[in-house]
Amino acid sequence: MNSTYLSINNLAKRFDRLSVIEDFSLQIRKGEFVCVVGPTGCGKTTLLRCLMGLTQADAGEILLRGQPLSLRASSVGYISQEDTLMPWLNALENAAFGMKIRGVPRSERKKTARETLAGLGLGDIAARFPRELSASQQKQVALARALAVQPEILLMDEPYSQMDSSSRHKLWNELLELKCQTGVTVLFITHNVEEAVYLADRIIVLSDKPIRIKQDISVSIRHPRNIADNGFIQLRERVTEEIKWW
Ligand SMILES: Nc1ncnc2c1ncn2[C@@H]1O[C@H](COP(=O)(O)OP(=O)(O)OP(=O)(O)O)[C@@H](O)[C@H]1O
Ligand SMILES: [Mg+2]
Repeated sequence: MNSTYLSINNLAKRFDRLSVIEDFSLQIRKGEFVCVVGPTGCGKTTLLRCLMGLTQADAGEILLRGQPLSLRASSVGYISQEDTLMPWLNALENAAFGMKIRGVPRSERKKTARETLAGLGLGDIAARFPRELSASQQKQVALARALAVQPEILLMDEPYSQMDSSSRHKLWNELLELKCQTGVTVLFITHNVEEAVYLADRIIVLSDKPIRIKQDISVSIRHPRNIADNGFIQLRERVTEEIKWW
């Protein structure tokens, strides 16, 4: 892996008197899969929103390959916490929506959206509307929408928190496969320690507001990971100890 690729330097964000992010720095390498865990309401979503430019940080810089991250110049895919599909658009149109915002021509949008859906095994539901899809299919269409812009960086905010465990396992494996194929760099927020240990190259444990890095844990367990293996269980327990905020 190369050295620093995405640099978050001395980021700060407050909402009136509430300081959510203060002098926060995090360096991410290209192709890394970084899972972030932290107490409810500590500022995880705010951090991702600052990266996406949806929330204006008060101070600090976000650099990609040493240059300020420009969402025009580089593509970042984002799956928000409450991610919703447009109910009036079918799966294909939803998957094409991120490209539409970026001004990709119509015919190219359709072709890419179709290919992206097919790549996720969703080719046969392209014409269905969100109400006709299961919750996990809806999540996959949201993933297709994020992937269709061919992101270099994928920001995912608790994407699978509502899933049952067997759907979650399936989605984890699909995501890891996709990361392997595309080399995309992933910043993934979760409250689920098992999920973090299954997916991550690195787990960042945050403290409560203002967020600080409490632990930065490298995960060297080889893929495919087995949740019943001793090494897996030990790491899961270690991270659980670290996040005992209850
Ligand atoms: N636009 C806003 N205006 C005022 N306060 C906000 C705003 N957005 C977030 N906050 C506050 O900032 C803090 C961090 O919120 P954020 O959504 O980033 O937390 P989180 O770590 O993602 O929480 P969760 O684990 O519940 O998803 C919370 O106290 C929240 O109430
Ligand atoms: Mg959140």
